Amino acid sequence: MIKKLTLSALSALMLTAGAAAANEEIEIEDVAFSFEGPFGVYDQAQLQRGLQVYTEVCSACHGLKYVPLRTLTDLGYTDAEVRAYASQYDIYDPELDDTRPRIPTDPFPSSSLDNAPDLSVMAKARAGFKGPYGTGISQMFRGIGGPEHIVAILTSFTGEEKEQAGTTLYENTAFPSGFMAMSPPLAGEDVEYADGSPNDLKSEAEDVAAFLMWTAEPKLMVRKRVGFLAVFFLSVLSVLLYLTNKRIWRPIKHPNES
Ligand code: HEC
Repeated sequence: MIKKLTLSALSALMLTAGAAAANEEIEIEDVAFSFEGPFGVYDQAQLQRGLQVYTEVCSACHGLKYVPLRTLTDLGYTDAEVRAYASQYDIYDPELDDTRPRIPTDPFPSSSLDNAPDLSVMAKARAGFKGPYGTGISQMFRGIGGPEHIVAILTSFTGEEKEQAGTTLYENTAFPSGFMAMSPPLAGEDVEYADGSPNDLKSEAEDVAAFLMWTAEPKLMVRKRVGFLAVFFLSVLSVLLYLTNKRIWRPIKHPNES
């Protein structure tokens, strides 16, 4: 019995070690995103550029069905702009028994390509997955690695392809199996930014990754602010408790002082 248990524990250990080793083969480069670190904030202009890349390139295949269109006001758009943006996508309305243009209270469309995953929470789903490894402290300052994974996926196509069971697979050194069903979506200069920001491959990949981090965690900044306030109040409370404690015990520790 003991022998059996030891054996299964050992094999479990070896299996996890193997998995960790397999993950480490893929090097994901850290990107210094503005939203990382305890005081990180989203760069609104970058999120707008990312939305543009998503709209013009990725949305051809990928959906964002868990993201309500109205939240685009967080990116600095006016209600009218959000309404105009929403209306470019149609939705089937069972009440009308027909399709109608979307309104801000509708979500983004779902993926239009069956095998393209929904990207709503991809940046968090891939967190800690080949991202910058390490202790929690490193993650606190350098982020959880999800957006870096997306940047890596978008910039690690080798140009090689192969045919497998009737589908073309594209070689990608950041994808765990080495080959993925997505053809390289970005090549650089795929979109023209209104503010004249650089639109090389790496910049576009970082912009869309930042946007996808926002779709996965739109309230990141609020969460950090609340966390910071909580820590601040707890620190003040600790000082007060320390002083109170001293005062309560003073007559016992120094009985001769009046
Ligand atoms: C022509 C359709 C198409 C376009 C355009 C496209 N993708 Fe994909 N994407 C796919 C498919 C298909 C998969 C699934 C690949 C697989 O599992 O082998 C995928 C997978 C992904 C993944 C998941 C990788 C993982 O870790 O599993 C990410 C992230 C992604 N795409 C991001 C993007 C971004 C960002 C854009 C826009 C710049 C984009 N895609 C444009 C078809 C597309």
